[in-house]
Amino acid sequence: MKSIPHPIQYQGSKRNLATVILRYVPKGVNCMIEPFAGSAAISIAAAARQLAKTYLVNDLNKPLAELLRLIVEFPVETALFYEQVWNAQHDDSIEHFYRVREDFNHTQDPRLFLYLLARCVKGSVRYNSNGLFNQSPDKRRFGTRPETMRTNIFGVSALLKGKTRFSSLDYKAVLATAQTSDLVYMDPPYQGVCGDKDSRYFSGISHTDFVAALEDLNAKGISYIVSYDGRRGDKIFGELLPTSLDLTHIELDAGRSSQSTLLGRDEVTYESLYLSQALTDKLAHKSADYHPPRAQQFALLEPAAHYA
Ligand SMILES: C[S@@+](CC[C@H](N)C(=O)[O-])C[C@H]1O[C@@H](n2cnc3c(N)ncnc32)[C@H](O)[C@@H]1O
Repeated sequence: MKSIPHPIQYQGSKRNLATVILRYVPKGVNCMIEPFAGSAAISIAAAARQLAKTYLVNDLNKPLAELLRLIVEFPVETALFYEQVWNAQHDDSIEHFYRVREDFNHTQDPRLFLYLLARCVKGSVRYNSNGLFNQSPDKRRFGTRPETMRTNIFGVSALLKGKTRFSSLDYKAVLATAQTSDLVYMDPPYQGVCGDKDSRYFSGISHTDFVAALEDLNAKGISYIVSYDGRRGDKIFGELLPTSLDLTHIELDAGRSSQSTLLGRDEVTYESLYLSQALTDKLAHKSADYHPPRAQQFALLEPAAHYA
C-alpha cells in the first residue's frame, strides 16, 4: 500500500499502529466514528483501505476538528496558507513561532494551528490553565516543508472528501448517534493525569464516565474498539477497563521505548486494545477462522489479515 498521508503531527497519533488496529474492522461498516480523532490517523488509514462508506471525525478541540475539515474540504487554500506562514519564518523562526502562537491564541484560526503543530516539539500540544496553547518551538527543525505538507493535505482530502462529517462535541454526544451498522474507534486522552484537566490535550475525561458510556454502547449492541491503558515491562499505565464490560482485551506490541533503551532496560511497550462483544460477534460470524484473541500479543510487523 502507498504510504498514508499525514498532514498533522500529533502526540499520541495512532498512525504507526493503524495497520494492526484496522485488522479488527469487519466488512460492510456503514460509518466509522472517531469521537477522539486527534490527527484522525485511524479514519485516514481506514479510508485508504476503503473500510467504511462514510466517516465521522470528532474532537473536542475545536481548532483541531476545524483544521481537519479545512484540509479535507479546502485543500488548495489550506496548503497555500501553510506555505505563506511557513515562508514568513525565514530570518527569525523562533520569534515567528511565538508571533503565530499569540495570533492563534487570539483568533483560534485553525490554519495557524497547522503551522504550530508542524513546528512545535514532537507535535505535542500543551495548554495552560486558561486553555491557551503554550508549547514551545522545536529549535532544531523548521517544520514540514510546504511541498511535503501540500502532498499530505491533498492525499487526505482525496481519501475523505465527500464522505466525511466533522464535529467538535463531547464524545458522549457523538456516541449517542452510533448505529449497529457503524464502527466506533475510541482513543481517549491518556489516563494518569486525567480528571477533566490534562495539559497535554485540550481536555481529559473521567474514567467512570467513560465506563458508563461503554455500558450504554453495549446495551445498544454497538461495535467498538478502544485504545486505552498500556504497559511497559511490568508497569501498567492507566486503569484497566472492567471485566463487566465483556470486552476482548488484546495487547499490541508497540516496540521498545526510546526511554527504556536510553536507561539500558530491555522493556517493550504494549498498548491495550479492547473489542466490544458486538464487534467480536460480527468478526466471528463472518469468518469461521476467526477466534477472538484473549490477551494475546501481536507484533506490529505481523502481516495484516482481515476477518471478513
Ligand atoms: C489520544 S488523543 C487521540 C489521538 C488520535 N488517535 C490520533 O491518532 O491522532 C485524544 C484526543 O481526545 C480529545 N478529547 C479530549 N476530551 C474529549 C472529549 N470529552 N470529547 C471528545 N474529544 C476529546 C483530545 O483533544 C485529543 O485530541
